[in-house]
Amino acid sequence: MSAHAGLSHLVRQTEWAIRQQQESGFDTAFLPGGLDMVLTLPERQTEPVYSDLADSLETLYQRHCDCTVCPLGHKRQHFVFGAGNEQADVLFIGEAPGADEDAQGRPFVGAAGQLFTRILKAIDFSRDEVYIANILKCRPPNNRDPKPDEIAACEPILREQIRLIQPILICALGRIAGQALLQTTMSLGRLRGRFHDYHGIKLMVTYHPSALLRNPAYKRPTWEDVQLLRREYDKMIQTRTDAS
Ligand code: URA
Ligand code: URA
Repeated sequence: MSAHAGLSHLVRQTEWAIRQQQESGFDTAFLPGGLDMVLTLPERQTEPVYSDLADSLETLYQRHCDCTVCPLGHKRQHFVFGAGNEQADVLFIGEAPGADEDAQGRPFVGAAGQLFTRILKAIDFSRDEVYIANILKCRPPNNRDPKPDEIAACEPILREQIRLIQPILICALGRIAGQALLQTTMSLGRLRGRFHDYHGIKLMVTYHPSALLRNPAYKRPTWEDVQLLRREYDKMIQTRTDAS
């Protein structure tokens, strides 16, 4: 990673930490490790500030991979944490693992996943370049919709993933992911096709690839959505390059 990319990642982490602090009302700030080497910080506290925030995705994974906070943890074959670039600019969030994902331990590897990979390619992203995760890390029986208490139990893991990855864009795949992230009951038809604000991060909602497999009429609006996502990404990267 270049020094510049490392620094801009650090700055994004810091901005996020400060925003979280403001929103939560906490009076201790989490600052990413290494920041003190590039910025002059106020004098350090002598007492260590306790923080239970994970310092990497690997730590976060290790902390939660045996999770049984909700009953789905007792029935899974694999805890499907997520995959991709730890410093991705774009984060895709699906609903929950299906049978293939549960068997392999990786997100979006079944039929819907293959279509998702093709959609990514069509907008010139590779799976290695982005990060892919789900609202739930464990498979609901028979792929039923996640229950609100399951979403609530799993949400802290995703929130930590977002804090560590620091994406500049999030794309929620399907109604469940869009509604969970935006805390709304609005329909997918009303949520899609535009950007929402997710704690300061631009968030797009589009159809879930499984929905496209069932109903090809969703392909066209999805194509429009992901092209809009790509254009916004290109614009944001250009702005970042101009500023450096
Ligand atoms: N559907 C999802 O929402 N996520 C996966 O990982 C696979 C299928
Ligand atoms: N309806 C849904 O619930 N999800 C989709 O992705 C599309 C239609």
